[in-house]
Amino acid sequence: MFRTHTCGELRQTNVGQQTTLAGWVQRIRRMGGMTFVDIRDRYGLTQLVLNQDVNAELFDKANKLGREFVIQVTGDVALRSNINPNMETGDIEILVFDLKILNESKTPPFTIEDNTDGGDDIRMKYRYLDLRRNSVRSNLELRHAIAFETRRYLDKMSFLEVETPVLIGSTPEGARDFVVPSRMNLGQFYALPQSPQLFKQLLMVSGFDRYFQIVKCFRDEDLRADRQPEFTQIDCEMAFVDQEDVLNIFEGMMKHLFKFVKNIEFADAFPRMTWADGMKYYGSDKPDIRFEMKFVEVKEVVSGHNFVVFDSSPYVAGICATGCAGYTRKQLDELTDFVKRPQIGAKGLVYIRCEADGTFKSSVDKFYAPEDLKLIAAQFNAQPGDLILLMSGEMRKTQKALCELRLEIGARLGLRDKNVFAPLWIIDFPLFEYDEETDRYYAMHHPFTSPMLEDLPLLKTNKGAVRSNAYDMVVNGVELGGGSIRIHDRAVQQEMFHHLGFTPEKAEAQFGFLMSAFQYGAPPHGGLAFGLDRLVSLFAGLDSIRDCIAFPKNNSGRDVMMDAPAVLDQSQLDELNLEIKPLTTKGE
Ligand code: AMO
Repeated sequence: MFRTHTCGELRQTNVGQQTTLAGWVQRIRRMGGMTFVDIRDRYGLTQLVLNQDVNAELFDKANKLGREFVIQVTGDVALRSNINPNMETGDIEILVFDLKILNESKTPPFTIEDNTDGGDDIRMKYRYLDLRRNSVRSNLELRHAIAFETRRYLDKMSFLEVETPVLIGSTPEGARDFVVPSRMNLGQFYALPQSPQLFKQLLMVSGFDRYFQIVKCFRDEDLRADRQPEFTQIDCEMAFVDQEDVLNIFEGMMKHLFKFVKNIEFADAFPRMTWADGMKYYGSDKPDIRFEMKFVEVKEVVSGHNFVVFDSSPYVAGICATGCAGYTRKQLDELTDFVKRPQIGAKGLVYIRCEADGTFKSSVDKFYAPEDLKLIAAQFNAQPGDLILLMSGEMRKTQKALCELRLEIGARLGLRDKNVFAPLWIIDFPLFEYDEETDRYYAMHHPFTSPMLEDLPLLKTNKGAVRSNAYDMVVNGVELGGGSIRIHDRAVQQEMFHHLGFTPEKAEAQFGFLMSAFQYGAPPHGGLAFGLDRLVSLFAGLDSIRDCIAFPKNNSGRDVMMDAPAVLDQSQLDELNLEIKPLTTKGE
């Protein structure tokens, strides 16, 4: 046998047994005539002991080992004189009588420890070494557990896992496609799926009824901490359902995952919030409801005091930061700088301190008398010791900025504990989203989302007010998943394409197969998709989804280990009949 035990397995009960272990050298300590080696594998660490007096030859061999050498040892399990309570195998050690070097290792470019000295770039370049670290490995173990429990739950609920193709035509999900040239069809390109959206809808037409797939999706979009160009969805679709059925099944799935992976039980139903309320009270369609600090609109109360900033703004709102009246001038300046950062883009911040003695001190004392400030504070139900922060401007922009400020204050107050989970559903999304730059409406979710029946008359008169049967699952301010009840009627789908600015020809070219399928008995259907990477990061308390992906891309979309993307050989280009234009520098 190559090994009788793993390096994380041996305990006091094994004392006296002979064991063979295989793994990597984590650490070597030489203490006079004794050498201690920690051997590591996926399961843990075990201390090996080599005694010069017992076997000098073996002792010399051990002293020549280096970090990350791969070894196989045989020895007797013995009780340690110095028990190490911080190590799972800390009660025992192995008195080695045979040692084989299976492979040597160069000195690794960073230490393979929990607190490594390796920066991000070097760890990504040598990701296979980084993956030997406990923290990274445990994220992948968690990922496995979540995927496994997802399959267990969905299987129990009669969902079938069906694979869909990766080389497809374009599916619009709001991002750019990654494309793949076809050698057999020169001049033509496949697109990689942004999601299996159309395939899962077609599977419903095929009668599969309950589908799921844990599937890679590809989107060429600007990257952030919670975005990768290739990521994994738990993609699901159901036939003969309304919104309530979908929410119930997948609330059940989330509860199952929380219970069996995190050991957290949610007895109550997840709260539901309309998109409109999310914007009004939190300035976000993914509110972090671990804490309250809801927005209060005060335009009416603050107007008419000759403070031009507020008088000229269509929207004035604020939050009340409990117990923050003691913030110093410097801290308040910091907050002002925070909201003025280009990513947030606010012009400024007004504060009102509710002093302990019941008086008020504000940055706008010139315009507001103490009784005016008292009236404003009353809107927030502010108490002595609280700090009110106000922002103004165009409504959506100001809500977004105030949302960032609320999250920042929440973090400063320790209200965003990673071990507390606050899930909710956001429902009643608008069907369309207006884009100022291109002066047109886009589907807020995707073009296959069904409008709410009662809002259909608005389609012709007030597009922006039409609501859809779309929903998102949000936990701690992270959009974990989203979906909708779909359009299954060909005429309605055609009308939707029309409203989104597709000519009949373009709609036919891109979605002809879907429209054709809808002629053959498409059942009512709906579904959603969860981001597996985001789910794992949330459960693990990670700041970036990269840390739960075995081989992720960096922020420029590069795989620094493989050095991809890369230029193609001329022969490959020729075979594909492709020519690369010379890159022009800006301004040429
Ligand atoms: P949507 O585009 O909302 O919906 O995506 C579903 C979920 O996928 C995750 N996600 C991402 N995760 C990491 N990196 C990315 N670049 C990325 N983009 C999305 C998010 C998101 O909530 N076909 C529809 C679903 C449906 O209607 O059934 C869709 O893809 O967690």
